[in-house]
Amino acid sequence: MKLITVKNYDEMSQKASSFILDLIQSKEKPVLGLATGSTPEGLYKYLIKAYEEGKASFQHVTTFNLDEYVGMERTDANSYYSFMQENFFKHVDISPSQTFLPNGKAVDLQAECKNYEELIANANQVDIQVLGVGLNGHIGFNEPGTSFSSRTHVVDLDESTRQANSRFFESLDEVPTQAITMGIETIMESKMILLLVSGEQKAEALVRLLEDNAITEDFPASILREHPNVIIIADEAASNHLSK
Ligand code: F6R
Repeated sequence: MKLITVKNYDEMSQKASSFILDLIQSKEKPVLGLATGSTPEGLYKYLIKAYEEGKASFQHVTTFNLDEYVGMERTDANSYYSFMQENFFKHVDISPSQTFLPNGKAVDLQAECKNYEELIANANQVDIQVLGVGLNGHIGFNEPGTSFSSRTHVVDLDESTRQANSRFFESLDEVPTQAITMGIETIMESKMILLLVSGEQKAEALVRLLEDNAITEDFPASILREHPNVIIIADEAASNHLSK
């Protein structure tokens, strides 16, 4: 794993965008794995800026998002589908038929998980997977205890994750209890992983990731140590507790 430390959230976002832009400028049909949440919002702003300035086109880009809430209409403002439309897709020239998220309203959720895996495999795997990390070390919605050999599956969300995400909802009761997420093995098959970490509240998770040697399902992000090509971009606030 390579750690790049930057000053703040804005620099983290800009740096992350430079990796994505390099990929889409050098590869004919790039495949991106995308995340939602507060962490990648700035990255998407920089990608939109590059598009508006005529420096990038997303016409030949395919995207796969990590996760989606179960039971939520795509049109719901809190769905990850809506998040991606609002924060990225509707502002660039990406083809809607090339943007994939799990369908949390699928009648047969197991079939939906299998189908999502097939779509990723048919796209020849993800070139760059963008990840944020949960306070408990989750990646995607793979909560502590998830098997490292998991593929796309339905998960029960941790109470701590529901609490953390309740900031986007009117109340905690409205936060869904389940999600579909790419599995850990699915994520690990990405050719490169770009993990973004920002803010003081993520500092302990970063210490655990970088300085605790244990690779354990109790802290899902720890598996990233076994991936050959991980770049972590962390801002100063998130890096503050590192020993060096
Ligand atoms: C989002 C996702 C999650 C988030 C994580 C951090 O698609 O899969 O793992 O990356 O919960 O969320 P934020 O960025 O809001 O702190």
